[in-house]
Amino acid sequence: MSARVDQGRIDRQLLDRVDALLGHLPRTPVVRLPHPGLRLYAKMELENRTGSAKDRAAIWILREAVRRGEITRSTTVVESSSGNFALALASFLNELGVPFAPVLDPNVNAATERTLRQLCARVEKVTEPDGTGGYLLSRLVRVAELRAELSDVYWPNQYSNPDGARGHYELTARELLEDVGRIDYLFVGVGTGATINGLSRRLREEHPDATVVAVDVEGSAIFGAPPARRRIPGIGSSIRPPLVDDAWIKKVVVLSERDEVAGCRALLRDHGIYAGGSTGCVYAAITRYFDGHTGPEPVVAFLCADSGNPYADTVYADDWVTEHLTPAAIEGA
Ligand SMILES: Cc1ncc(COP(=O)(O)O)c(C=O)c1O
Repeated sequence: MSARVDQGRIDRQLLDRVDALLGHLPRTPVVRLPHPGLRLYAKMELENRTGSAKDRAAIWILREAVRRGEITRSTTVVESSSGNFALALASFLNELGVPFAPVLDPNVNAATERTLRQLCARVEKVTEPDGTGGYLLSRLVRVAELRAELSDVYWPNQYSNPDGARGHYELTARELLEDVGRIDYLFVGVGTGATINGLSRRLREEHPDATVVAVDVEGSAIFGAPPARRRIPGIGSSIRPPLVDDAWIKKVVVLSERDEVAGCRALLRDHGIYAGGSTGCVYAAITRYFDGHTGPEPVVAFLCADSGNPYADTVYADDWVTEHLTPAAIEGA
């Protein structure tokens, strides 16, 4: 990605507006969760304006692109997303008066898709799986077609854009470390790798003895397994995103989509937090990692990356889980 600044193309009015949006981005709360054996902290990223941690990556990417003259008010932004990143971009770009065409796939939550169709004049949805069991490569082909079709287009490319990770470094990580202080273990779900890249690099600078645990889901190719079908959007990817290579990761925990479901329901029962699939997976990873732990209580932190509301008819619906995630259903798919 070019980091060249095209002075002649910078839209100053737009830059003022995007700076104002960034300046007014709310800080999300960090809550202490009473948990046996751990000093457990959750950063409530689900309280971001568009409901997920993706606000942090999206606003930083947009501000930097406007600052370099890569986005003006006559640019169309095109991006592949399984939901949350598209929602964050759609909301900010709508406010900025810049057109946005998200490219989605059939795993998108119904509520997220409905909101995107309200906010965007054009929504693209691929239907063909890409041969890896996922849709990412199909989405990227559609993005390439749109980039060829439109004359003034900007593609954030969230899988390799360092500005997305920078948003987490500057905003999410700074707030988390200010509020918690020392952290012994940080558990982070991985999709594009932007979150773990930004959080882990700042943690390494401030607490080099900490352990960062990456959490991924079976069927994801991020940590070397062959890609396979996955149904819950959020974490996992059918490629290894380059942002993961620069992250500071000491351990990796890979769980199943059934574990994601169990983790979501356990987090709701144990702490009253109604969160999305990736957060459930991270919570399941934490409880499994520290199962039987004795001795001093480590400080453990994680993000509640999005809310459970868009997953009400999937992760939280017994019928859906029986239909899609029982061993028989997975075998027959
Ligand atoms: C709910 C949720 N959790 C976690 C992630 C993973 O974050 P990242 O893409 O920064 O690795 C995503 C990414 O889309 C997400 O939507």
